[in-house]
Amino acid sequence: MTADSSASDPVFPVPERLLNGKPTPFVSSFEEYKKLWEESVQDPTSFFGKLGRETLTWSKPFETVMSGSLLEGDVAWFLEGELNACYNCVDRHALAQPNKVAIIHEGDEPGNVRKITYSELLREVCRLANVFTSLDVRKGDTVAIYMPMVPETVMAMLACARIGAVHSVVFAGFSSDSLRDRINDCGARLVLTADEGRRGGKNIATKRIVDEALKGSPSVDHVLVLRRTGSEVPWADGRDLWWHDEIEKTRPYCPPTNVNAEDPLFLLYTSGSTGTPKGVMHTTAGYLLGAALTLKYIFDYHENDVYACMADVGWITGHTYLLYGPLMNGATTVVFESTPTYPTPSRFWDLIQTHKVTQFYTAPTAIRALRRLGDKWLEGYDLSTLRVIGSVGEPINPEAWHWYNEKVGRNVCAVVDTYWQTETGSIVVSPLPGAISTKPGSATFPFFGIKPAVLDPQSGKELEGNDVTGVLAISQPWPSMARTVYKNHNRYLDTYLKPYKGYYFTGDGATRDKDGYIWIRGRVDDVINVSGHRLSTAEIESALILHPAVAEAAVVGGNDELTGQCIHAYCTLKPNVEDSEGLEKELSLQVRKVIGPFATPKRIYVVPDLPKTRSGKIMRRILRKIVNNEQDQLGDTSTLAEPA
Ligand code: WT7
Repeated sequence: MTADSSASDPVFPVPERLLNGKPTPFVSSFEEYKKLWEESVQDPTSFFGKLGRETLTWSKPFETVMSGSLLEGDVAWFLEGELNACYNCVDRHALAQPNKVAIIHEGDEPGNVRKITYSELLREVCRLANVFTSLDVRKGDTVAIYMPMVPETVMAMLACARIGAVHSVVFAGFSSDSLRDRINDCGARLVLTADEGRRGGKNIATKRIVDEALKGSPSVDHVLVLRRTGSEVPWADGRDLWWHDEIEKTRPYCPPTNVNAEDPLFLLYTSGSTGTPKGVMHTTAGYLLGAALTLKYIFDYHENDVYACMADVGWITGHTYLLYGPLMNGATTVVFESTPTYPTPSRFWDLIQTHKVTQFYTAPTAIRALRRLGDKWLEGYDLSTLRVIGSVGEPINPEAWHWYNEKVGRNVCAVVDTYWQTETGSIVVSPLPGAISTKPGSATFPFFGIKPAVLDPQSGKELEGNDVTGVLAISQPWPSMARTVYKNHNRYLDTYLKPYKGYYFTGDGATRDKDGYIWIRGRVDDVINVSGHRLSTAEIESALILHPAVAEAAVVGGNDELTGQCIHAYCTLKPNVEDSEGLEKELSLQVRKVIGPFATPKRIYVVPDLPKTRSGKIMRRILRKIVNNEQDQLGDTSTLAEPA
């Protein structure tokens, strides 16, 4: 971690389009932001009490705004309150504006567009909720969702919320092994899937992957299968049910089940630095409030805007900024099934022009890839409806930021580099479009209610003032923070709350520069971020060790111009096993099989030995330096067993 932000960082003022254009931004000066932020952290009870009453519709009002502490790990918000997440996202808008478009589905093939109004959405969600009930899913039960990017996936999540069931969406790029582990951890009895997915012109064997996973998942009674491509798929009679058959039997209204503010809304599995993925649990009211407020203020969302988040709903960005944030605000949200380059690298720009998108949200890896393919793909596209363009998932390098700002934002949009995590539930550090001048590469300032702290990693002492670098923590609870790790509260405490007592530890390094801007420096633990996909080195190592030829494996993150980081894996072989041509390919396939294609190592090195300490611990630090061509900075190697 180096403090390479300097006096020379260019500062981009709030664009004229936002200051003088229409609609007027909700927060339109730095002073106003500062005042609101100070209120929010000094008196969170009054700040979020008011916003909680205004933003959410309650079936029973809360009395206590917040309780618990980061020290004890017992944080709860809006305790006595009762509400229903689906009612908040769908019913109230369906009642007020039944014909407003809730979802625009941009299918894999351009021109394959489906629009769903709020009243249609309500009916479809109700039918599905009734199907779930008929399959004996009850409040508090977990439903696993392994589906492509189609509106039915969003409906499924909302239908769970409607009956108080807990959804656990598994990104459809995960392998059957990963899916099985996640289903078994959460004990789902119902799994939702599709016959096949469709992406970039190719069919994906979604149902087959589910079938494979279920060989090792005894808890599952039923699989509800959406017909997406119509291809023939294997069928388990009694277990498998067609979505369209079941829907036909049910009535298009289902009363919402009101739940407590602190009842779980969903689980989402994410990688940590050790062991198996954690089922991060988010609860209902606090999460929804965080999603609603950040969407409104950070994207400056106004009525009649068309909001497009390109993330897959299988990741937290899809949960918060494709589904819950937009629908809480009664927005029109885009569900995008394809890829940025299908059928051509103009796909995003075509989508923005066609649907008159006002807010666009994607990841640096996509921006870098499109930048590399050349500006000609943007030529002739009308992007003038855009006001705010966002970036998420990994640090955005200044070159990519400038390109995004100039070519996509045409120097008139606000660029919001939004920093957050699966565990934070919603964005925690980001510019506000009308209020905060930006510096390319910096996520700038904390959102309301977020009190960031830069800590000295060794002493844990808070580094006060500006121009400091350390690890990033948050020093007081906020409404959308994760409450626990499913069935493993100790792991939650150990990972987030115990490393620095009284703080939530993010796992990221950060600098607060001389002007108070926050720069995220990347993970300080064994988590690596490939194209915004979060993986743990330990997970990939365990996958490799499952291969019969492998004795030991060490995985480190290398720098990559396109994907941010990439995976380098070092393996030693078991005695009597010879390195053979094709072995590296086999090991690579092994990782794809155990985790999923997005975890494919960029390089696999079969080596005679791994650098270890005398006590036998693999020194990944050394390997990291080697893959990043920093051999000259190997540091202290004297503790190595065999320095050579
Ligand atoms: C990790 C969280 C939250 C949405 C997607 C990722 C990195 C995320 C940024 C950003 C620098 C970022 C951090 C964080 N990260 N956004 N704007 N600038 N780094 O969620 O899978 O939970 O990963 O992504 O390292 O800890 P996630």
